[in-house]
Amino acid sequence: MNIRPMRIDDLPGMQACNLQNLPENYTMRYYLYHAMTWPSLSYVAEDHKGRIVGYILAKMDEDADAGENAEPHGHVTSISILRSYRRLGLAKKLMVQSPMVAIYRASYVSLHVRKSNRAALGLYRDTLGFTLQDTEKKYYADGEDAYAMRLSLKQ
Ligand code: ACO
Repeated sequence: MNIRPMRIDDLPGMQACNLQNLPENYTMRYYLYHAMTWPSLSYVAEDHKGRIVGYILAKMDEDADAGENAEPHGHVTSISILRSYRRLGLAKKLMVQSPMVAIYRASYVSLHVRKSNRAALGLYRDTLGFTLQDTEKKYYADGEDAYAMRLSLKQ
């Protein structure tokens, strides 16, 4: 299994992986926006034949209402691993690859996760040390609440 930065020709494979795994789906334009704007932040996991088996799609963000105090921070838009490649440590590797601090001076990473997503919560909270910031009611299209989580990157 190989982990490497995403390339433009990976986008269809990433989108296919997303469609298989998650109800939150994105247009190809949205993938392209990530790839063109923050080319070094998103990564893929590929098998020995070069097939995409997982990805992390990430971007930089600023709190719109924080004014002058807005801190640049990374945001994980989406991460997923195909079912038969799970529990091999791939998601963890994808999460720690992204050079948000080195290149973009991110002070923290944020993300949203469904309250019911036990596997992702295990990854974020128990393995990587993310903490709960807030619960956003009915964040998802089907009405499920999201946990807004954050990992500080300050030394
Ligand atoms: N149950 C409990 N804890 C889990 C589980 C699980 N099913 N899967 C992973 N974890 C936790 C464990 O602590 C694990 O460490 P361990 O294996 O040493 O016990 C740790 O996470 C690291 O696991 P990885 O092997 O790196 O995780 P994996 O590659 O299997 O991917 C993921 C985890 C991405 C959540 C995967 O299950 C998946 O693709 N699920 C469907 C898509 C999804 O829910 N994506 C997240 C949506 S939220 C967002 O995108 C911001």
